[in-house]
Amino acid sequence: MKKCIAANWKMFKTRLDARETATALAALTADKLPADREVLIFPPFTAISAVREALGSRTGFGVGAQNFYPAEEGAYTGEIAPDMLIDLGCSWSLAGHSERRHVFKEGDDLVAAKTVFGLNKGLNIILCIGETLEQRKNGHLETVLREQLRTALLECSQKDLASRLAVAYEPVWAIGTGEVARNQDITEAHAFIRSQLLDIKPGHGEAMRILYGGSVKPKNIADIISLDNVDGVLVGGASLSAESFSQIVLG
Ligand code: 13P
Repeated sequence: MKKCIAANWKMFKTRLDARETATALAALTADKLPADREVLIFPPFTAISAVREALGSRTGFGVGAQNFYPAEEGAYTGEIAPDMLIDLGCSWSLAGHSERRHVFKEGDDLVAAKTVFGLNKGLNIILCIGETLEQRKNGHLETVLREQLRTALLECSQKDLASRLAVAYEPVWAIGTGEVARNQDITEAHAFIRSQLLDIKPGHGEAMRILYGGSVKPKNIADIISLDNVDGVLVGGASLSAESFSQIVLG
């Protein structure tokens, strides 16, 4: 399976900014994208079409959403349904990003509902999990990761789950702080996640991709991407500039 280099643009960029960044990224990586890597961009909803158009049918690039509501359609003011995202050209969505969990108080059950519903509707999902600093300090790392994985994955029954669901391990204390997890922290957490995936989804867990996210930059990508059980990265701040994200994509 290809390594996945994903950009989460969070609540940044107008359509014009998004189009310019995607166009510049495509130019900077043209003909250089290694065959074993794929790039996914998660713009805000309003810029999804602009990015989709800027990338055209370029191979190795995909576009996704940062969030959606797990219902077909209906009276859910302010929400977006999977079919609407697929209509815009999204093939992926994030679910359970730590900012959704902590700023918007999304619990494991809602994240699980999104994961199952999104997959059933045809979206591929990057399920984000991770512990707070307090949970880590109190020795609850494994309990937190296990619970986040189990609730989200137990009801997923797709035959092609391994290619349609990736897990992103994003320790909350490393997001947007410049505080990158040590290689040893990443290796240990990813090994634990792999063991849980094998246990929860036998037959799929071996091949499922596990991405790392949290202060990934051009200067640390080479180290991080070469660690055991690191099958890609999910990048926030350093993905906003085409210059720095292209170095991560090719790094
Ligand atoms: P930073 O790369 O800015 O730490 O953000 C990580 C993240 O939240 C990606 O989803």
